[in-house]
Amino acid sequence: MGEARFISFEGGEGGGKSTQVRLLAERLRGAGREVVSTREPGGSPGAEALRDLLVKGEADRWSPMSETLILYAARRDHVERLIRPALARGAWVICDRFADSTRAYQGAAGGVDPGFIEALERAVLGDTRPNLTLVLDLPAEEGLQRAGRRGDCETRFEQKGRAFHERLRTEFLAIAQKEPDRCVVIDAAPPLQAVQAAIWAAVAERLSENALER
Ligand code: TMP
Repeated sequence: MGEARFISFEGGEGGGKSTQVRLLAERLRGAGREVVSTREPGGSPGAEALRDLLVKGEADRWSPMSETLILYAARRDHVERLIRPALARGAWVICDRFADSTRAYQGAAGGVDPGFIEALERAVLGDTRPNLTLVLDLPAEEGLQRAGRRGDCETRFEQKGRAFHERLRTEFLAIAQKEPDRCVVIDAAPPLQAVQAAIWAAVAERLSENALER
């Protein structure tokens, strides 16, 4: 095969990333690919244990800098134990959030120095970066409403207030604008099937239609 690809999904709360990750993985498997679908924070046993510390509890449980350090410990474990081995054997890796979430949540919205986050990316990730990042874009208010209806207990970041979530959206769009070769912005407001179709079109266009049809 030798056609390994790394796709990340990014965006604020409630944009439907997890569902879209699942649908894309199913479709790629249907096209004969080995697909590893995973998520952050988490994706390996150690990183999943750290996830619980990050997404549960009071909003001020950790400072943004502490979050950054925990996230990068989790991300390193995930990259070493799951993502790199999968890519090395030619699988497609689809990840629900990755490094852009730290730029947005801890950097732009949390106030951690972007230069420090960039240095962590270089030191911890090296060349292990997504080939394609799909930014699911939704007005912050609508995303929070949708996320609230989900009713799980992973609400730590949802509690952070409207201004925080507006900054996230602005940052994800800014990242996409700065790195147009890697990022595609997908409007997450339309019905699920329309969003799915837009994602499939972006994947087919960016990651070669031929490769997908084989
Ligand atoms: P999820 O709700 O998309 O599963 O993500 C869990 C939460 O973790 C979400 O509120 C965003 C947050 N998060 C960060 O703050 N920084 C990160 O780097 C990642 C990957 C997630």
